[in-house]
Amino acid sequence: MSCNEVKALHYELLLKDILATAEKLPPFPDVVWKVMSLLRKTAPVQEIEQVIQYDPAITARILMLSQSAFYGRKTKVSSLREAIFVLGNQKLMQVVLTSCASRFFQKTGKGSEGDERDLWYHSVATAVTGETMARQRKHKKVLTIYTACLLHDIGKTVLNQYAKVYLHLRVANPKLDGRGLISAERKTLGIDHQELGELIARRWQFPKEVVEAIGHHHNPQAVTHDADLAMVAYMADRIVNDMDQEYAETNPLEPEKDPVFAQWKLDSADIEKLQNKIVDAMEGIQHFLNN
Ligand SMILES: [Fe+2]
Ligand SMILES: [Fe+2]
Repeated sequence: MSCNEVKALHYELLLKDILATAEKLPPFPDVVWKVMSLLRKTAPVQEIEQVIQYDPAITARILMLSQSAFYGRKTKVSSLREAIFVLGNQKLMQVVLTSCASRFFQKTGKGSEGDERDLWYHSVATAVTGETMARQRKHKKVLTIYTACLLHDIGKTVLNQYAKVYLHLRVANPKLDGRGLISAERKTLGIDHQELGELIARRWQFPKEVVEAIGHHHNPQAVTHDADLAMVAYMADRIVNDMDQEYAETNPLEPEKDPVFAQWKLDSADIEKLQNKIVDAMEGIQHFLNN
C-alpha cells in the first residue's frame, strides 16, 4: 500500500469513526416535545408537571434555572408546579430545553472537564444573546432562535474529541475564527462541526429551520430562504466570542465591515450595549450552570 493510500484509508476510517460516535449520542430527551405539545393545547398544569417529573434530573435542573433572574424573573421558585406557573410558556420551554441540552455538554471522558464547561457556557451565552436580539426586534420566532443558538455548536461535543487529537485546538477559545476553524476541521477530519451539528439536530428531529441554522452558523449567507435564524446564530456567536479578550484580539469584530451585521443594522455601540446585558444575564445564570 502506498503512502497516499494509507493516508486515504486513515482519513476514511477517521470520518467513519466520527459519524459512528455521533450516531451513538442518545436521543434528545422527548420531554421537550411532550411539554411543547401540552402547552400548545393549553393543557392543565398538573399534566405538564407529570410529564416533567418523570425525569428527576431534568426536574432538578428546571427548578435550579427557574430561580435565576434571566429565566425566572427574580421570583423564588420552590416547586415544579410553581415554576410552571411563574415562568410562562416561553420561558418554561427555554428552561426545559436548556435543562435537556446540558447533559450533552458534560465531560465525555476524552476531553478535559473545563473545555466541556466552556463550550456549555458559550452555548448558553449565545442563546441568551440570540434571544435578547430577537426580542429587541420583536421577532416572531424568539424560542426557535433561542433553540438554534443554544445548539449551534452541538457538533463540537463530538468533533472536539477528535479536534483535540488531530488539530490540537482548544475548544471554546480557538485561535481560528469561525471560517478558519471550519476549513481546518474539514481538511483534517473530513467533516466540520456545522455539518456534524446539522446531522445530529436532524436525527433529534428539531425543526428544519433550526437544523439549517446550526448547519450554517458560520456562513449564514448560504441560506437562501428565511435566513434570520442562521444570521442571529452567527452574530450571537461572534458577539459572545468577542467578549473573550484573547479571541477578540486575534479576531476583531468589525460590524461595520461585516455584511451580516450590516444587514441586521447592528453597529459597535449596539453590540457594546448587548454585551453589557449578556454579562449581567450570565452572572445570574452561571451559578445554576455549574450544578
Ligand atoms: Fe461554531
Ligand atoms: Fe460557537
